[in-house]
Amino acid sequence: MKKLFVMLSGRGSNFLKIYENIKKGHLKAEICGVFSNKKDALGIKKAKEEGLKTFILENKEFSSRREHEIGIEKIIDELSPDFIILAGYMRILTEEFVKKYKWKIVNIHPALLPSFPGVEAQKRAWEYGVKFSGCTVHFVDEGVDTGPIILQRIVPVFDEDTPEELEERILKEEHIAYTEALKILIEGKWKIEGRRFILQ
Ligand code: GRF
Repeated sequence: MKKLFVMLSGRGSNFLKIYENIKKGHLKAEICGVFSNKKDALGIKKAKEEGLKTFILENKEFSSRREHEIGIEKIIDELSPDFIILAGYMRILTEEFVKKYKWKIVNIHPALLPSFPGVEAQKRAWEYGVKFSGCTVHFVDEGVDTGPIILQRIVPVFDEDTPEELEERILKEEHIAYTEALKILIEGKWKIEGRRFILQ
């Protein structure tokens, strides 16, 4: 059984959807640990309620970003997960961390990358006036939201939408996309050539 290690900072709806799909047998994997850098994150509270192994290391407990990550690496290396799933983890990872777990760290972004990387992507896409947006599941590399794209799902943007409505429409697709992407990764029939994620 492939092991997934989840990292989050907030409400954790993507994590919970993945976990629900595992419980329903839609995804053949196990969650070996859930990490949060925010002790009050709703996602970590839910993970505890579900009886999962949870870990909290707050940023402020460490003198630098790298020291914080070294703490996280100790947890990860003990559990040796197959994939590290970023599910609303709101801290940029250093090059050292990303290189150490090359092609193991996966993220979901609420826009069609390479458009609107970074924070508040849905709001910025709405402000820009795009007619379509969506979500992107991608590997994490040294840049911000720049790694090879595993899959994307598209939503329309309607003239009467508010940014909140767009965010909600995208989130529904995120909940489908993350499990779909993880199924492909777990199956193992893929390779990366340059920037391209290719199914084999
Ligand atoms: C999602 O919109 C995801 O795309 C972004 O952060 C948000 C996390 O939401 N990376 P949740 O915590 O999974 O509900």
